[in-house]
Amino acid sequence: MLIDTHCHLDFKDFDGDREDVLSRSRADEVGIIINVGAGLESTLRSIELAEKYDHIYASAGIHPHDADVTNETGLELFRSYLARKKIVAIGEIGLDYYKNISSKQNQKKLFIMLLEEAKKKDLPIIIHNREAHEDVFAVLKDVMGSKVKGVMHCFSGDCKILKECLDLGMFVSFTCNITFKNASVLREVVKEVPMDRFLLETDAPFLAPQILRGKRNEPGYVKYLAEEIARIKCVSFDEIADITTKNAKRLFAL
Ligand code: NI
Repeated sequence: MLIDTHCHLDFKDFDGDREDVLSRSRADEVGIIINVGAGLESTLRSIELAEKYDHIYASAGIHPHDADVTNETGLELFRSYLARKKIVAIGEIGLDYYKNISSKQNQKKLFIMLLEEAKKKDLPIIIHNREAHEDVFAVLKDVMGSKVKGVMHCFSGDCKILKECLDLGMFVSFTCNITFKNASVLREVVKEVPMDRFLLETDAPFLAPQILRGKRNEPGYVKYLAEEIARIKCVSFDEIADITTKNAKRLFAL
């Protein structure tokens, strides 16, 4: 069995064929899916998906892009979502200094508030970090201390940043972007990740694997990611499937 720990099946990209996508992923042995909220509406849609399908769980998140437009009413709504069933994490949350859609100051403020919620609820966090490594770690250490129950989603750093994640006790997840032709640096990082810290994710509809580059991604394609990690680590596909399934169950209490 494989677990896709991060996808966005609630996005309109899947409106035409969501059922087909789910049955294909079942055929590819994706036994559990975590649908990750990327905002208030997306969180609500994730909860609805989790309520509809046994094998789907939801994560509640407000993306750093929304930091400028999130007010106290939005935060109240967010807190009410945390009381719903099948919420297994808070995310994606974090900082995005690549697109900088919201101001850095507001991004940090929102990130801190959402981390406080995670602490209160003792929920793991799913972190979005684009070109904001330094501030992400500074805020994490400040709010969460020396141990962080969470995952660095779509890891995009180098070995030094990997070490910071591991020192905090975090999990690291890669997407199918490690299959891209130009991802040799990331493939080197994969070699350094201890087996008990790996998670698999597609981030579908984004980041389809190299052989389907430019197409829509879907949870079933997590198998291409598992194959690539198995190849890099020189272990069997089954071993990667087993260990990443165990890891995801441990982090998200599935
Ligand atoms: Ni995502």
